[in-house]
Amino acid sequence: MKTLEKRTDIILESSIDTTDKLQKICQLLYDEIDYYNWVGFYFKNGDKDELKLGPYVGAATDHIIIPFGKGICGQVAVSNETFMVQDVNEQDNYLSCSIDTKSEIVVPIFKNGNNIGQIDIDSHKINPFSIDDKTFLENLCKKLGLLL
Ligand code: SME
Repeated sequence: MKTLEKRTDIILESSIDTTDKLQKICQLLYDEIDYYNWVGFYFKNGDKDELKLGPYVGAATDHIIIPFGKGICGQVAVSNETFMVQDVNEQDNYLSCSIDTKSEIVVPIFKNGNNIGQIDIDSHKINPFSIDDKTFLENLCKKLGLLL
């Protein structure tokens, strides 16, 4: 994960525009971590209490807009805390993107203390995430919060 962290730093420091940076981060994580099978960003949609899909890599999703409180993503929009779900079947408040998705981790992004969005990772494996994923993604989101 240390090498991957360095590679995300290089993307974040490059001169390409922000959307391209986010897209490249999605692609890098998707390519390098075999159990990351969908990687994307959601951001607060203007002043509405809802999330809007941003750059992503993986299967197309029906969940372009997610109201705050709905699903794992919507819950993170209000809890302000990382939500690691090792088995989505155990969650009642979950929005299914694909029948292949078995687990999910969502990490909030803060800008000046405000929760502005999140990175969302889906996996086809049950129980794939460790504290290393949480730490890696939280560090990445801290850097993104300074950039966005
Ligand atoms: N599963 C998410 C919805 C977004 S998709 O995973 C891309 C949720 O429950 O919020």
